[in-house]
Amino acid sequence: MSECTLAEDNAGRFTAKTLHGPGGSGGVAPPGGPLLELSGVTMRFGGVTAIDDLSLKIPPQKVVGLIGPNGAGKTTVFNVVTGFYQPQEGRLEFEGQPLAGLPPQKICALGIARTFQNIRLFAGGTVLDNVMVGCHVRRKARWWMAPLCLPVFLREEKSIKEKSYALLERVGLARAAREKANSLPYGAQRRLEIARALATEPSFLLLDEPAAGMNPQESEDLMHFIAKIREEFNLSILMIEHDMKVVMGVCSHIWVLDYGRLIAEGGPEEIRNNPWVITAYLGRPAEGGPHSA
Ligand SMILES: Nc1ncnc2c1ncn2[C@@H]1O[C@H](COP(=O)(O)OP(=O)(O)OP(=O)(O)O)[C@@H](O)[C@H]1O
Ligand SMILES: [Mg+2]
Repeated sequence: MSECTLAEDNAGRFTAKTLHGPGGSGGVAPPGGPLLELSGVTMRFGGVTAIDDLSLKIPPQKVVGLIGPNGAGKTTVFNVVTGFYQPQEGRLEFEGQPLAGLPPQKICALGIARTFQNIRLFAGGTVLDNVMVGCHVRRKARWWMAPLCLPVFLREEKSIKEKSYALLERVGLARAAREKANSLPYGAQRRLEIARALATEPSFLLLDEPAAGMNPQESEDLMHFIAKIREEFNLSILMIEHDMKVVMGVCSHIWVLDYGRLIAEGGPEEIRNNPWVITAYLGRPAEGGPHSA
């Protein structure tokens, strides 16, 4: 096992140093404890170990990143955190509460929302419909009140519509509210997926490759957008991303996976220069990294 050196400095800031080899053991909790903690999580699919003994602590109120080569296990981490998969080993805690055995809708209700690597909108629905679906996670009226048109149901439906419009305004999509979701340009569809996730009122947002398929200008706009929503919605954001400009530009802390194992973590500059990370990405030995002379 390699050493993990996530730590709190004298000023109470959340800081970190890089690991020196594969595997990690999590770190010291920031003041008030981590938002999400994974301890020794392992997820296997038959003979493939997608996540291998992964331990990490996600701090509250930050934008942080999870990177690694294709097939490193990043999306599997999201699927485990959001209850799509149950890991064979390990423990997950969100705000100190164990997530084991909870289905995705319960985890969403706790305040964890996500977007998907391959956009998953209700393509035939309108932009507004897609955000309203997200709001339904928090609705109080019961489904059987709908056909009866009970006032309590109608009042809530109206407030969900208003809230959805307001969210669309905040993500710059209000003018497209009546358009079909699949008629939007790619970058706007990704923002819509984020708006739908925000509609569930999360405290923790997981973004799986939000910049995928975007041109440089769209990626640049996305960085500002992510920083803005973090601030405005008082969220923590964990982002998987291959676009290093976006990752380095917006994340204060980055975890690196390779073959399901944590090989490094730290601030953007540290990660950029880490020989283990360079080796994992380039597929050839870097000076000071594994397999170097
Ligand atoms: N449902 C599944 N059934 C079988 N194998 C799976 C499943 N989900 C993921 N895997 C395998 O687990 C490994 C990690 O996959 P994962 O999708 O988490 O990688 P990733 O880091 O997100 O890669 P990418 O950057 O290409 O999206 C891969 O070998 C993948 O084939
Ligand atoms: Mg993935």
